[in-house]
Amino acid sequence: MRIAVAGGTGAVGTHVVELAREAGHEVAVLSRGTGVDLTTGVGLTEALAGVEAVVDVASTFTLDAQESRTFFGDTTRRLLQAEAAAGTKHHLALSIVGIDRAPHGYYAGKVLQEELVTTGPVPWTVLRATQFHEFAGQVHGSTTLGPLVLVPRMRSETVAARDVAARLVELVEAGPSGRVADLGGPEEAWMADLSRAWARARGDRRRVLGVPLPGRLGRAMRDGTLVSGPGADHGSTTFEEWLRDQAVQRA
Ligand SMILES: NC(=O)c1ccc[n+]([C@@H]2O[C@H](COP(=O)([O-])OP(=O)(O)OC[C@H]3O[C@@H](n4cnc5c(N)ncnc54)[C@H](OP(=O)(O)O)[C@@H]3O)[C@@H](O)[C@H]2O)c1
Repeated sequence: MRIAVAGGTGAVGTHVVELAREAGHEVAVLSRGTGVDLTTGVGLTEALAGVEAVVDVASTFTLDAQESRTFFGDTTRRLLQAEAAAGTKHHLALSIVGIDRAPHGYYAGKVLQEELVTTGPVPWTVLRATQFHEFAGQVHGSTTLGPLVLVPRMRSETVAARDVAARLVELVEAGPSGRVADLGGPEEAWMADLSRAWARARGDRRRVLGVPLPGRLGRAMRDGTLVSGPGADHGSTTFEEWLRDQAVQRA
């Protein structure tokens, strides 16, 4: 099958591209780096020629709700419009567990993305996943207080981006399936513990503190809103295994 991966150079997109090619699919990578800008539409029509399915794993880095809504709104509308014109038969979007129950700025864009996909002109699948194992590194060091590293107190169930990618390839092969079972990781942990382990593996011995964030978002982080619930599927790669694999790759 000819598949386009929007965001195919990102954390999960790289694995989707690799695994889809290993499975024998022909893959077009859509990113600004490959000459396709999903916010302006430059290069999109050409890139979708002959494409049967699009996996959308594009993203932007923002905590601002309006910026997030603009990015996911613009990119999703452009993709769906171009797919409808190209005769693409399946749009598969990756979303996040708990986005409609936690008032996080980035999640506002993901909620809009889901609305557009599920009411749009192209038969669709939406998979929600929990945070990737990589998230433990992304939160580490973004807030410091003297020698302390502060990490939100957050119940988490991180999953390997590669396990998410493997599920996305299965789903693209299955065809449009609507909202499918959420995908979580193999185990729950506090984010501060994961972040500390991530830092130790890199020789960073600064003290990591889990800090409760105030308000509804802080509560959602602590009360399990962001971990998968009953009926979810689970990736098999543990955080420890993922960390070891990262160390091997760095050596
Ligand atoms: N990270 C997590 O923990 C997590 C958990 C669950 C679900 N998700 C979802 O998974 C998806 C992928 O996340 P990620 O962390 O893998 O993203 P990422 O590493 O930040 O990668 C983003 C991708 O989007 C592309 N992109 C950004 N702006 C673009 C534009 N204007 N036009 C075309 N391509 C553009 C980037 O390539 P260029 O820069 O070359 O354009 C890159 O390939 C997102 O929808 C996210 O919400 C993430």
